[in-house]
Amino acid sequence: MSNHDLAIVILAAGKGTRLKSSLAKVLHRAGGRTLIEHVVRACAPLGAKQTIVVVGHQAEWVSSMVEPLGAETVLQQPQHGTGHAMQVARRTLGRAKLAVVLPGDAPLVRTETLKALVAAHRAGDAAATILTAVLADPSGYGRILRKSETAVGAIVEESQLTQDQRELNEINSAIYCFTLEKLWQALAHVKPNNRHRELYLTDTIALMTSKGETVLAEVAPDPREVLGCNTRADLAEVDRVFRERKRAALMDTGVTIQLPETVLIDPEVTAGEDTVIEPGVQLLGKTKIGARCMIRSGSVLTDALLGDDVTVEPHCVVAQSRLDDRVIIGPFARLRPDNHVKAGARIGNFVELKKSTIGEGTKAMHLTYLGDTKIGAKSNIGAGTITCNYDGFHKYPTSIGNKVFIGSDSALVAPVRIGDGAYVAAGSTITDNVPADALAVARGRQVNKPGWASRKRRELAAAENPKKTKRAGKKPKARRPSKKRR
Ligand code: UD1
Ligand code: MG
Repeated sequence: MSNHDLAIVILAAGKGTRLKSSLAKVLHRAGGRTLIEHVVRACAPLGAKQTIVVVGHQAEWVSSMVEPLGAETVLQQPQHGTGHAMQVARRTLGRAKLAVVLPGDAPLVRTETLKALVAAHRAGDAAATILTAVLADPSGYGRILRKSETAVGAIVEESQLTQDQRELNEINSAIYCFTLEKLWQALAHVKPNNRHRELYLTDTIALMTSKGETVLAEVAPDPREVLGCNTRADLAEVDRVFRERKRAALMDTGVTIQLPETVLIDPEVTAGEDTVIEPGVQLLGKTKIGARCMIRSGSVLTDALLGDDVTVEPHCVVAQSRLDDRVIIGPFARLRPDNHVKAGARIGNFVELKKSTIGEGTKAMHLTYLGDTKIGAKSNIGAGTITCNYDGFHKYPTSIGNKVFIGSDSALVAPVRIGDGAYVAAGSTITDNVPADALAVARGRQVNKPGWASRKRRELAAAENPKKTKRAGKKPKARRPSKKRR
Protein backbone atom coordinates (compact mmCIF):
# COMPACT_ATOMS: atom_id res chain seq x y z
CA MET A 1 0.00 0.00 0.00
CA SER A 2 1.27 3.46 -0.87
CA ASN A 3 2.00 5.69 2.09
CA HIS A 4 2.06 9.04 0.28
CA ASP A 5 -0.39 10.43 2.87
CA LEU A 6 1.75 9.28 5.82
CA ALA A 7 4.32 11.09 7.97
CA ILE A 8 6.58 9.67 10.68
CA VAL A 9 7.15 11.61 13.89
CA ILE A 10 9.79 10.34 16.31
CA LEU A 11 9.86 11.94 19.76
CA ALA A 12 13.46 12.24 20.89
CA ALA A 13 13.79 15.48 22.82
CA GLY A 14 13.81 14.05 26.36
CA LYS A 15 16.87 13.83 28.58
CA GLY A 16 16.26 10.41 30.04
CA THR A 17 16.63 11.33 33.70
CA ARG A 18 16.23 7.74 34.84
CA LEU A 19 19.39 6.69 32.99
CA LYS A 20 21.46 9.03 35.20
CA SER A 21 23.67 10.04 32.30
CA SER A 22 25.18 13.15 30.76
CA LEU A 23 24.23 11.69 27.38
CA ALA A 24 20.70 12.22 26.01
CA LYS A 25 18.73 8.98 26.19
CA VAL A 26 18.31 8.38 22.46
CA LEU A 27 22.09 8.65 21.98
CA HIS A 28 22.70 5.64 24.19
CA ARG A 29 23.64 2.52 22.26
CA ALA A 30 22.12 -0.94 22.13
CA GLY A 31 22.71 -3.63 19.53
CA GLY A 32 25.62 -1.66 18.05
CA ARG A 33 23.73 1.54 17.18
CA THR A 34 22.24 4.53 18.96
CA LEU A 35 18.59 4.05 19.94
CA ILE A 36 17.45 6.81 17.60
CA GLU A 37 19.21 5.27 14.58
CA HIS A 38 17.38 1.99 15.14
CA VAL A 39 14.01 3.75 15.22
CA VAL A 40 14.64 5.82 12.07
CA ARG A 41 15.90 2.73 10.22
CA ALA A 42 12.84 0.67 11.23
CA CYS A 43 10.58 3.41 9.81
CA ALA A 44 12.42 3.98 6.52
CA PRO A 45 10.85 1.10 4.54
CA LEU A 46 7.34 2.47 5.27
CA GLY A 47 7.99 4.96 2.48
CA ALA A 48 6.43 7.88 4.35
CA LYS A 49 6.65 11.22 2.61
CA GLN A 50 8.21 12.90 5.63
CA THR A 51 10.14 11.74 8.70
CA ILE A 52 10.43 14.28 11.49
CA VAL A 53 12.52 13.78 14.62
CA VAL A 54 11.67 16.07 17.54
CA VAL A 55 14.99 16.96 19.18
CA GLY A 56 15.80 18.82 22.40
CA HIS A 57 18.55 17.51 24.65
CA GLN A 58 21.84 17.46 22.74
CA ALA A 59 19.81 18.45 19.69
CA GLU A 60 22.76 18.96 17.36
CA TRP A 61 24.22 15.60 18.14
CA VAL A 62 20.89 13.81 17.68
CA SER A 63 20.34 15.70 14.41
CA SER A 64 23.73 14.63 13.13
CA MET A 65 22.73 10.99 13.67
CA VAL A 66 19.34 11.14 11.92
CA GLU A 67 19.82 13.62 9.08
CA PRO A 68 22.12 11.28 7.10
CA LEU A 69 19.27 8.73 7.31
CA GLY A 70 16.91 11.13 5.53
CA ALA A 71 15.03 12.55 8.53
CA GLU A 72 14.40 16.23 9.24
CA THR A 73 14.47 17.62 12.76
CA VAL A 74 12.47 20.13 14.76
CA LEU A 75 13.59 21.63 18.06
CA GLN A 76 11.44 21.28 21.19
CA GLN A 77 12.94 23.62 23.75
CA PRO A 78 11.99 23.39 26.61
CA GLN A 79 10.31 19.97 26.75
CA HIS A 80 6.80 20.03 28.15
CA GLY A 81 5.87 16.41 27.47
CA THR A 82 5.02 14.08 24.60
CA GLY A 83 1.83 16.01 23.73
CA HIS A 84 3.82 19.24 23.56
CA ALA A 85 6.40 17.49 21.37
CA MET A 86 3.62 16.71 18.85
CA GLN A 87 2.47 20.35 18.90
CA VAL A 88 6.01 21.38 18.04
CA ALA A 89 6.21 18.76 15.25
CA ARG A 90 2.98 20.12 13.78
CA ARG A 91 4.80 23.24 12.59
CA THR A 92 6.99 21.16 10.31
CA LEU A 93 4.40 18.61 9.18
CA GLY A 94 3.23 19.09 5.61
CA ARG A 95 -0.11 17.90 4.35
CA ALA A 96 0.06 14.30 5.61
CA LYS A 97 -3.26 12.80 6.65
CA LEU A 98 -1.84 10.12 8.93
CA ALA A 99 1.20 9.99 11.18
CA VAL A 100 2.99 7.11 12.79
CA VAL A 101 4.29 8.50 16.07
CA LEU A 102 7.06 6.67 17.92
CA PRO A 103 9.23 7.31 20.96
CA GLY A 104 12.95 7.49 20.28
CA ASP A 105 13.62 5.11 23.16
CA ALA A 106 11.85 1.95 21.94
CA PRO A 107 14.30 0.72 19.29
CA LEU A 108 13.27 -2.94 18.91
CA VAL A 109 10.15 -2.25 16.85
CA ARG A 110 10.13 -4.01 13.46
CA THR A 111 9.07 -2.55 10.14
CA GLU A 112 6.53 -5.36 9.64
CA THR A 113 4.82 -4.45 12.89
CA LEU A 114 4.61 -0.78 11.88
CA LYS A 115 3.13 -1.78 8.53
CA ALA A 116 0.51 -3.88 10.31
CA LEU A 117 -0.28 -0.92 12.60
CA VAL A 118 -0.91 1.40 9.65
CA ALA A 119 -2.95 -1.24 7.82
CA ALA A 120 -5.14 -1.82 10.90
CA HIS A 121 -5.62 1.92 11.28
CA ARG A 122 -6.69 2.34 7.68
CA ALA A 123 -8.95 -0.72 7.76
CA GLY A 124 -10.69 0.42 10.95
CA ASP A 125 -10.97 4.07 9.84
CA ALA A 126 -9.81 4.98 13.34
CA ALA A 127 -8.81 8.30 14.90
CA ALA A 128 -5.94 6.54 16.61
CA THR A 129 -4.51 3.01 16.63
CA ILE A 130 -2.17 2.12 19.46
CA LEU A 131 0.50 -0.56 19.30
CA THR A 132 0.10 -2.43 22.59
CA ALA A 133 1.72 -5.44 24.20
CA VAL A 134 0.83 -7.80 26.99
CA LEU A 135 3.70 -7.92 29.47
CA ALA A 136 4.24 -10.21 32.44
CA ASP A 137 5.66 -7.19 34.28
CA PRO A 138 3.91 -4.05 33.02
CA SER A 139 5.45 -1.70 35.60
CA GLY A 140 6.81 1.56 34.24
CA TYR A 141 4.39 1.69 31.30
CA GLY A 142 1.07 3.42 30.65
CA ARG A 143 -1.80 0.88 30.72
CA ILE A 144 -4.54 0.33 28.16
CA LEU A 145 -8.12 0.59 29.39
CA ARG A 146 -10.26 -1.40 26.97
CA LYS A 147 -13.78 -0.23 26.18
CA SER A 148 -14.65 -3.42 24.35
CA GLU A 149 -12.77 -6.36 22.91
CA THR A 150 -11.66 -4.29 19.94
CA ALA A 151 -11.81 -0.69 21.11
CA VAL A 152 -9.69 1.30 23.58
CA GLY A 153 -11.19 3.69 26.11
CA ALA A 154 -8.11 5.40 27.53
CA ILE A 155 -4.43 5.18 28.44
CA VAL A 156 -3.60 5.65 32.10
CA GLU A 157 -0.03 6.59 32.98
CA GLU A 158 1.65 4.49 35.67
CA SER A 159 1.70 7.39 38.16
CA GLN A 160 -2.06 7.82 37.82
CA LEU A 161 -3.15 4.19 38.12
CA THR A 162 -5.71 3.22 40.71
CA GLN A 163 -5.01 0.13 42.82
CA ASP A 164 -7.26 -2.02 40.60
CA GLN A 165 -5.73 -0.73 37.40
CA ARG A 166 -2.26 -1.85 38.50
CA GLU A 167 -3.30 -5.39 37.60
CA LEU A 168 -3.77 -4.43 33.94
CA ASN A 169 -0.97 -5.88 31.89
CA GLU A 170 -1.72 -4.56 28.40
CA ILE A 171 0.64 -1.62 27.99
CA ASN A 172 0.98 1.41 25.74
CA SER A 173 4.10 1.08 23.57
CA ALA A 174 3.88 4.84 22.78
CA ILE A 175 3.84 3.82 19.10
CA TYR A 176 0.66 5.02 17.44
CA CYS A 177 -0.93 5.73 14.11
CA PHE A 178 -3.00 8.93 14.27
CA THR A 179 -5.40 10.56 11.86
CA LEU A 180 -3.83 13.97 12.26
CA GLU A 181 -6.98 16.05 12.03
CA LYS A 182 -8.47 14.12 14.98
CA LEU A 183 -5.21 14.31 16.91
CA TRP A 184 -4.99 18.12 16.66
CA GLN A 185 -8.60 18.45 17.82
CA ALA A 186 -7.95 16.33 20.91
CA LEU A 187 -4.52 17.80 21.64
CA ALA A 188 -6.02 21.29 21.87
CA HIS A 189 -7.88 20.12 24.99
CA VAL A 190 -5.08 18.28 26.79
CA LYS A 191 -4.16 19.85 30.15
CA PRO A 192 -0.96 19.38 32.16
CA ASN A 193 -2.87 17.59 34.93
CA ASN A 194 0.01 15.52 36.29
CA ARG A 195 2.90 15.62 38.70
CA HIS A 196 5.35 16.81 36.04
CA ARG A 197 3.04 19.55 34.69
CA GLU A 198 3.52 18.07 31.20
CA LEU A 199 1.15 17.67 28.25
CA TYR A 200 0.77 13.91 27.81
CA LEU A 201 0.07 12.62 24.32
CA THR A 202 -1.60 9.66 26.01
CA ASP A 203 -4.38 11.95 27.33
CA THR A 204 -5.63 12.49 23.75
CA ILE A 205 -6.98 8.92 23.70
CA ALA A 206 -9.68 9.46 26.35
CA LEU A 207 -10.57 12.81 24.75
CA MET A 208 -11.07 11.10 21.38
CA THR A 209 -13.19 8.25 22.74
CA SER A 210 -15.34 10.70 24.73
CA LYS A 211 -16.17 12.36 21.41
CA GLY A 212 -17.20 9.02 19.94
CA GLU A 213 -14.07 8.55 17.85
CA THR A 214 -12.72 5.05 17.26
CA VAL A 215 -9.45 4.13 18.96
CA LEU A 216 -8.07 0.68 18.16
CA ALA A 217 -5.30 -1.42 19.62
CA GLU A 218 -2.90 -3.50 17.55
CA VAL A 219 -1.18 -6.05 19.77
CA ALA A 220 2.53 -6.50 18.98
CA PRO A 221 3.25 -10.10 17.92
CA ASP A 222 6.34 -10.20 20.13
CA PRO A 223 6.00 -8.20 23.35
CA ARG A 224 9.76 -7.60 23.42
CA GLU A 225 9.41 -5.35 20.36
CA VAL A 226 8.01 -2.52 22.44
CA LEU A 227 10.56 -2.49 25.26
CA GLY A 228 11.42 1.10 26.15
CA CYS A 229 14.84 2.11 27.45
CA ASN A 230 14.22 4.16 30.55
CA THR A 231 16.90 2.62 32.78
CA ARG A 232 20.32 1.01 32.36
CA ALA A 233 18.66 -2.36 33.02
CA ASP A 234 16.23 -1.70 30.12
CA LEU A 235 19.20 -0.82 27.89
CA ALA A 236 20.93 -4.09 28.75
CA GLU A 237 17.78 -6.07 28.01
CA VAL A 238 17.21 -4.32 24.68
CA ASP A 239 20.87 -4.87 23.72
CA ARG A 240 20.47 -8.56 24.54
CA VAL A 241 17.46 -8.87 22.22
CA PHE A 242 19.26 -7.10 19.35
CA ARG A 243 22.32 -9.32 19.72
CA GLU A 244 20.13 -12.41 19.77
CA ARG A 245 18.38 -11.32 16.56
CA LYS A 246 21.69 -10.70 14.79
CA ARG A 247 23.15 -14.06 15.80
CA ALA A 248 19.99 -15.83 14.67
CA ALA A 249 20.19 -14.05 11.30
CA LEU A 250 23.84 -15.11 10.82
CA MET A 251 23.10 -18.69 11.82
CA ASP A 252 20.34 -18.71 9.20
CA THR A 253 22.96 -17.94 6.56
CA GLY A 254 25.08 -20.96 7.54
CA VAL A 255 27.38 -19.66 10.28
CA THR A 256 28.06 -21.81 13.35
CA ILE A 257 28.09 -19.87 16.61
CA GLN A 258 29.11 -21.79 19.72
CA LEU A 259 27.51 -20.75 23.02
CA PRO A 260 25.76 -17.97 21.08
CA GLU A 261 24.77 -15.96 24.14
CA THR A 262 28.45 -15.16 24.76
CA VAL A 263 29.06 -13.74 21.27
CA LEU A 264 28.55 -10.05 20.43
CA ILE A 265 27.95 -9.13 16.78
CA ASP A 266 27.23 -5.66 15.39
CA PRO A 267 24.39 -5.20 12.92
CA GLU A 268 26.43 -4.70 9.74
CA VAL A 269 28.73 -7.71 10.21
CA THR A 270 28.55 -10.48 7.59
CA ALA A 271 30.09 -13.98 7.54
CA GLY A 272 30.17 -16.71 4.91
CA GLU A 273 28.95 -20.29 5.03
CA ASP A 274 30.58 -22.76 7.40
CA THR A 275 32.45 -20.10 9.30
CA VAL A 276 32.70 -21.05 12.97
CA ILE A 277 32.60 -18.47 15.74
CA GLU A 278 33.75 -19.70 19.14
CA PRO A 279 32.50 -18.48 22.53
CA GLY A 280 33.38 -15.00 23.77
CA VAL A 281 34.07 -13.45 20.35
CA GLN A 282 33.16 -9.85 19.41
CA LEU A 283 32.61 -8.96 15.75
CA LEU A 284 32.20 -5.20 15.52
CA GLY A 285 31.64 -2.36 13.06
CA LYS A 286 31.67 -3.32 9.40
CA THR A 287 33.58 -6.59 9.83
CA LYS A 288 33.15 -8.91 6.86
CA ILE A 289 34.22 -12.56 7.13
CA GLY A 290 34.48 -15.03 4.27
CA ALA A 291 33.52 -18.69 4.14
CA ARG A 292 35.00 -21.50 6.27
CA CYS A 293 36.81 -19.14 8.63
CA MET A 294 37.49 -19.98 12.25
CA ILE A 295 37.22 -17.15 14.78
CA ARG A 296 38.41 -18.53 18.05
CA SER A 297 37.58 -17.59 21.65
CA GLY A 298 38.22 -14.14 23.03
CA SER A 299 39.02 -12.45 19.72
CA VAL A 300 37.73 -8.93 19.01
CA LEU A 301 37.48 -7.90 15.34
CA THR A 302 36.53 -4.33 14.43
CA ASP A 303 36.04 -3.28 10.78
CA ALA A 304 38.09 -6.31 9.70
CA LEU A 305 37.93 -7.81 6.22
CA LEU A 306 38.63 -11.55 6.11
CA GLY A 307 38.86 -13.75 3.00
CA ASP A 308 37.99 -17.46 3.00
CA ASP A 309 39.56 -20.13 5.23
CA VAL A 310 41.13 -17.60 7.60
CA THR A 311 41.92 -18.72 11.15
CA VAL A 312 41.98 -16.21 13.97
CA GLU A 313 43.40 -18.11 16.94
CA PRO A 314 42.26 -17.22 20.49
CA HIS A 315 42.57 -13.73 21.94
CA CYS A 316 43.46 -11.68 18.88
CA VAL A 317 42.57 -7.99 18.52
CA VAL A 318 42.12 -6.85 14.91
CA ALA A 319 41.11 -3.34 13.82
CA GLN A 320 40.55 -2.03 10.28
CA SER A 321 42.75 -4.65 8.68
CA ARG A 322 42.46 -7.04 5.75
CA LEU A 323 43.38 -10.72 6.01
CA ASP A 324 43.35 -12.60 2.71
CA ASP A 325 42.50 -16.26 2.13
CA ARG A 326 44.15 -18.89 4.37
CA VAL A 327 45.87 -16.39 6.67
CA ILE A 328 46.41 -17.61 10.24
CA ILE A 329 46.91 -15.13 13.07
CA GLY A 330 47.44 -15.52 16.80
CA PRO A 331 46.95 -16.65 19.44
CA PHE A 332 47.43 -13.22 21.06
CA ALA A 333 48.13 -11.20 17.90
CA ARG A 334 47.34 -7.52 17.77
CA LEU A 335 46.59 -5.88 14.44
CA ARG A 336 46.19 -2.12 14.78
CA PRO A 337 44.64 -0.24 11.84
CA ASP A 338 45.64 -0.41 8.16
CA ASN A 339 47.29 -3.78 7.73
CA HIS A 340 47.02 -6.08 4.75
CA VAL A 341 48.08 -9.65 5.43
CA LYS A 342 48.20 -11.47 2.11
CA ALA A 343 47.16 -15.01 1.28
CA GLY A 344 48.65 -17.80 3.36
CA ALA A 345 50.75 -15.52 5.59
CA ARG A 346 51.08 -16.30 9.30
CA ILE A 347 51.18 -13.87 12.19
CA GLY A 348 51.91 -15.61 15.48
CA ASN A 349 51.72 -14.97 19.21
CA PHE A 350 52.51 -11.55 20.67
CA VAL A 351 53.03 -10.02 17.24
CA GLU A 352 51.83 -6.45 16.71
CA LEU A 353 51.23 -4.96 13.26
CA LYS A 354 50.49 -1.34 12.33
CA LYS A 355 50.10 0.07 8.80
CA SER A 356 51.93 -2.92 7.39
CA THR A 357 51.64 -5.20 4.38
CA ILE A 358 52.72 -8.80 4.86
CA GLY A 359 53.34 -10.67 1.59
CA GLU A 360 51.94 -14.03 0.56
CA GLY A 361 53.21 -16.91 2.66
CA THR A 362 55.40 -14.69 4.85
CA LYS A 363 55.70 -15.63 8.51
CA ALA A 364 56.20 -13.52 11.63
CA MET A 365 55.48 -16.04 14.32
CA HIS A 366 56.72 -14.71 17.66
CA LEU A 367 57.08 -11.53 19.74
CA THR A 368 57.48 -9.00 16.95
CA TYR A 369 56.52 -5.40 16.12
CA LEU A 370 56.11 -4.45 12.46
CA GLY A 371 55.05 -0.82 11.93
CA ASP A 372 54.92 1.11 8.61
CA THR A 373 56.46 -1.96 7.01
CA LYS A 374 56.07 -3.64 3.62
CA ILE A 375 57.22 -7.25 3.35
CA GLY A 376 57.27 -9.31 0.16
CA ALA A 377 56.33 -12.97 -0.26
CA LYS A 378 57.77 -15.99 1.56
CA SER A 379 59.97 -14.07 3.97
CA ASN A 380 60.64 -15.19 7.51
CA ILE A 381 60.68 -12.68 10.33
CA GLY A 382 62.48 -14.15 13.35
CA ALA A 383 61.27 -14.06 16.94
CA GLY A 384 61.62 -10.68 18.61
CA THR A 385 62.19 -8.65 15.45
CA ILE A 386 61.37 -4.97 15.97
CA THR A 387 60.98 -2.29 13.33
CA CYS A 388 62.16 0.96 14.94
CA ASN A 389 59.82 3.18 12.95
CA TYR A 390 59.74 6.25 15.20
CA ASP A 391 62.60 8.57 16.17
CA GLY A 392 60.55 10.63 18.61
CA PHE A 393 59.53 13.08 15.88
CA HIS A 394 58.57 11.20 12.72
CA LYS A 395 57.55 7.75 11.53
CA TYR A 396 59.65 6.06 8.80
CA PRO A 397 59.02 3.07 6.55
CA THR A 398 60.76 -0.30 6.46
CA SER A 399 60.82 -2.34 3.28
CA ILE A 400 61.64 -6.04 3.28
CA GLY A 401 61.77 -7.97 -0.01
CA ASN A 402 60.79 -11.50 -1.03
CA LYS A 403 62.36 -14.58 0.59
CA VAL A 404 64.21 -12.51 3.18
CA PHE A 405 65.37 -14.07 6.45
CA ILE A 406 65.47 -11.77 9.46
CA GLY A 407 67.26 -13.47 12.37
CA SER A 408 65.74 -13.36 15.82
CA ASP A 409 66.01 -10.30 18.04
CA SER A 410 66.92 -7.94 15.20
CA ALA A 411 66.17 -4.24 15.32
CA LEU A 412 65.52 -2.65 11.90
CA VAL A 413 66.04 1.10 12.29
CA ALA A 414 63.81 2.86 9.74
CA PRO A 415 64.00 4.13 7.11
CA VAL A 416 65.67 0.99 5.86
CA ARG A 417 65.38 -1.49 2.97
CA ILE A 418 66.29 -5.18 3.00
CA GLY A 419 66.68 -6.56 -0.54
CA ASP A 420 65.20 -9.81 -1.90
CA GLY A 421 66.79 -12.97 -0.59
CA ALA A 422 68.96 -11.17 2.00
CA TYR A 423 69.82 -12.53 5.46
CA VAL A 424 70.04 -10.52 8.64
CA ALA A 425 72.03 -12.22 11.39
CA ALA A 426 70.24 -12.75 14.71
CA GLY A 427 70.65 -9.92 17.20
CA SER A 428 71.58 -7.33 14.56
CA THR A 429 70.73 -3.66 14.76
CA ILE A 430 70.32 -2.74 11.10
CA THR A 431 70.76 0.94 10.29
CA ASP A 432 71.83 0.72 6.64
CA ASN A 433 70.10 -0.81 3.63
CA VAL A 434 70.95 -4.47 2.97
CA PRO A 435 71.45 -5.40 -0.70
CA ALA A 436 69.65 -8.37 -2.23
CA ASP A 437 71.15 -11.76 -1.35
CA ALA A 438 73.63 -10.23 1.15
CA LEU A 439 74.19 -11.27 4.77
CA ALA A 440 74.10 -8.35 7.19
CA VAL A 441 75.69 -8.82 10.61
CA ALA A 442 75.46 -5.83 12.91
CA ARG A 443 76.37 -6.84 16.45
CA GLY A 444 79.44 -7.10 18.71
CA ARG A 445 81.69 -10.06 17.82
CA GLN A 446 81.66 -12.84 20.45
CA VAL A 447 84.74 -13.21 22.71
CA ASN A 448 85.21 -16.41 24.82
CA LYS A 449 87.45 -16.09 27.92
CA PRO A 450 88.60 -19.60 28.96
CA GLY A 451 88.39 -20.36 32.71
CA TRP A 452 86.92 -16.99 33.59
CA ALA A 453 83.88 -18.44 35.38
CA SER A 454 85.77 -20.89 37.62
CA ARG A 455 88.25 -18.17 38.65
CA LYS A 456 85.37 -15.91 39.53
CA ARG A 457 83.69 -18.61 41.63
CA ARG A 458 86.95 -19.18 43.59
CA GLU A 459 87.33 -15.50 44.30
CA LEU A 460 83.79 -15.15 45.56
CA ALA A 461 84.08 -18.24 47.76
CA ALA A 462 87.30 -16.88 49.29
CA ALA A 463 85.73 -13.57 50.11
CA GLU A 464 82.81 -15.25 51.90
CA ASN A 465 84.79 -17.97 53.77
CA PRO A 466 88.21 -16.56 54.81
CA LYS A 467 89.05 -19.44 57.32
CA LYS A 468 89.26 -21.98 54.54
CA THR A 469 91.74 -19.92 52.59
CA LYS A 470 95.54 -20.54 52.79
CA ARG A 471 96.19 -17.47 54.90
CA ALA A 472 94.10 -18.95 57.78
CA GLY A 473 94.11 -16.84 60.95
CA LYS A 474 94.64 -13.62 59.08
CA LYS A 475 91.39 -12.14 58.14
CA PRO A 476 91.67 -11.04 54.52
CA LYS A 477 90.13 -7.74 53.64
CA ALA A 478 86.86 -8.23 51.86
CA ARG A 479 87.54 -6.81 48.44
CA ARG A 480 85.83 -6.66 45.15
CA PRO A 481 87.05 -9.10 42.53
CA SER A 482 89.80 -7.62 40.42
CA LYS A 483 88.56 -5.70 37.44
CA LYS A 484 91.28 -7.14 35.25
CA ARG A 485 90.04 -10.66 35.71
CA ARG A 486 86.36 -10.00 35.33
C1 UD1 B 1 5.76 6.88 27.47
C2 UD1 B 1 4.23 6.89 27.52
C3 UD1 B 1 3.76 5.61 28.22
C4 UD1 B 1 4.31 4.39 27.49
C5 UD1 B 1 5.84 4.48 27.39
C6 UD1 B 1 6.34 3.37 26.48
C7 UD1 B 1 3.57 9.25 27.70
C8 UD1 B 1 3.08 10.31 28.60
N1 UD1 B 1 3.76 8.05 28.26
O1 UD1 B 1 6.22 6.92 28.82
O2 UD1 B 1 2.32 5.55 28.20
O3 UD1 B 1 3.92 3.22 28.17
O4 UD1 B 1 6.23 5.73 26.80
O5 UD1 B 1 7.73 3.36 26.40
O6 UD1 B 1 3.76 9.50 26.53
N2 UD1 B 1 9.90 13.17 24.69
C9 UD1 B 1 10.01 14.32 23.94
N3 UD1 B 1 9.63 15.50 24.51
C10 UD1 B 1 9.12 15.58 25.77
C11 UD1 B 1 9.02 14.38 26.52
C12 UD1 B 1 9.41 13.20 25.95
O7 UD1 B 1 10.44 14.32 22.80
O8 UD1 B 1 8.80 16.69 26.19
C13 UD1 B 1 10.34 11.90 24.09
C14 UD1 B 1 11.44 11.22 24.87
O9 UD1 B 1 12.72 11.65 24.40
C15 UD1 B 1 11.19 9.75 24.59
C16 UD1 B 1 9.71 9.68 24.29
O10 UD1 B 1 9.27 11.00 24.08
O11 UD1 B 1 11.92 9.30 23.46
C17 UD1 B 1 8.92 9.05 25.45
O12 UD1 B 1 9.23 9.79 26.64
P1 UD1 B 1 9.55 9.04 27.99
O13 UD1 B 1 9.87 10.06 29.00
O14 UD1 B 1 10.47 7.92 27.77
O15 UD1 B 1 8.08 8.46 28.34
P2 UD1 B 1 7.76 7.20 29.22
O16 UD1 B 1 7.74 7.59 30.64
O17 UD1 B 1 8.59 6.06 28.83
MG1 MG C 1 10.29 5.86 27.72
